[in-house]
Amino acid sequence: MIQFILNDQFIQLDSIQADTTLLEYLRLNACLSGTKEGCASGDCGACTVVIAKLDESSADLEYASLNACICLLGSMHGKQIITVEGLRPDKKTLHPIQQSMVDKHASQCGFCTPGFVMSLFAMSKQKLQATHHDVIENIDGNLCRCTGYLPIIDAAKDALQQSITDQFDNKKSETIGKLQSIKASQGERFIHPASVKDLARKVIENPNVRLLAGGTDLVLDITQGSQQYENIIYLGNVKELKQINETETELHMGAAVTYEMAEDKLVEIHPDFKLHLQRLGSKQIRNVGTIGGNIANASPIGDMPPALVALDTALVLQKGDVQRIVKMNDFYTGYKQTILEDGEFLREIIIPKNKPNHQLKIYKISKRHADDISAICAAFYLGVEDDKIVSCRIAMGGMAATVKRANHCEKVLLNQSLNQESLDHAKTEILKDYQPLDDVRASREYRILMAQNLLQRLFIDLGAAL
Ligand code: FES
Ligand code: FES
Repeated sequence: MIQFILNDQFIQLDSIQADTTLLEYLRLNACLSGTKEGCASGDCGACTVVIAKLDESSADLEYASLNACICLLGSMHGKQIITVEGLRPDKKTLHPIQQSMVDKHASQCGFCTPGFVMSLFAMSKQKLQATHHDVIENIDGNLCRCTGYLPIIDAAKDALQQSITDQFDNKKSETIGKLQSIKASQGERFIHPASVKDLARKVIENPNVRLLAGGTDLVLDITQGSQQYENIIYLGNVKELKQINETETELHMGAAVTYEMAEDKLVEIHPDFKLHLQRLGSKQIRNVGTIGGNIANASPIGDMPPALVALDTALVLQKGDVQRIVKMNDFYTGYKQTILEDGEFLREIIIPKNKPNHQLKIYKISKRHADDISAICAAFYLGVEDDKIVSCRIAMGGMAATVKRANHCEKVLLNQSLNQESLDHAKTEILKDYQPLDDVRASREYRILMAQNLLQRLFIDLGAAL
């Protein structure tokens, strides 16, 4: 059984299919067809809705946009779902965001418009400044094929320059009361463990059941691969997996920490994560996608693993009460394969903080700036003293069946100066490290050339005399 609020209506569903998406439910069951289906893969933003959930520390509501097409309905237990229909319950007055879209002629065919409106509505609820940059960052997962983006950005700036008070603010305490009254779900097919102990037990009892964190990858199996999942174990309510702690030298992140939750800390310890996270998925994806999910799905083109391997990140794996710590470099065994045993799960990610005279550089090559999959993602963690490379770790995604270190290249760079000779040598050696495949994203030749060019870019960024 799951309970949630849909716009202002309290909903209880006694049984659900574990693999029902939120978009399917909204359009087919709740008959709220304002939320559109474009790509069904998190790429267009037509299905954007806003979720409000209780922040337990402040007892306030936190709002975030997400893609309903790659979100499973079961994960909505205990939350409020706001769709475009909820913005004008009386069907007479437009919400200030909608009015601004009309005033600025920001819609033509209108297919993308509900998605843009909901992304901007999320911004209004987070009381974000409507600078050009902020608006772009918050609509980077929304595509429009006919209007063009300038009128939409103008509408956003106009609507958001003043603080908007709407029916959701007026009903806030009522909504908080309703959400607080919802107890933990006891669903049998969509399982919601509430603690690591509970999770460890459920994973051992159900070793073949898929674990779901943000779902931004797993749900593609359902919408694109026609895969059916009878049971799911959802990690989003496991408190320990949502925690971030730190020591003097390390950041410890629970496996279900989202990109959005981690961003400030990651950028604080390694500033290059700032741009990298802006290019990782879209706002809707970063709001729910998790770093643990990006690691555990073992995709060779995941955006976080190259940087984490270059930093020598360690993983805490747990089975029952027993934990083991492994280096991330030893975690992958083949294409989408890891050393995780039956009944074992990723519990924590331990990321080393920056060392003196070291720098992390991350470069992503993709066709679209935001919300796209890498053709190549290269990460370099270099220590440079007196113009000499004193330590060097390089990891690349998209170049092999797993994210992989460039051992030959690292070896020849060690103790060398940042100059043309060592760059040329490294460019030759990297050919021994990778024999990439051709696929729809890039040819083998393109990938090799890019890897060499990214080495050159690294040297330039580090101030090499070339
Ligand atoms: Fe395109 Fe959901 S339908 S992102
Ligand atoms: Fe037609 Fe945006 S108005 S796709």
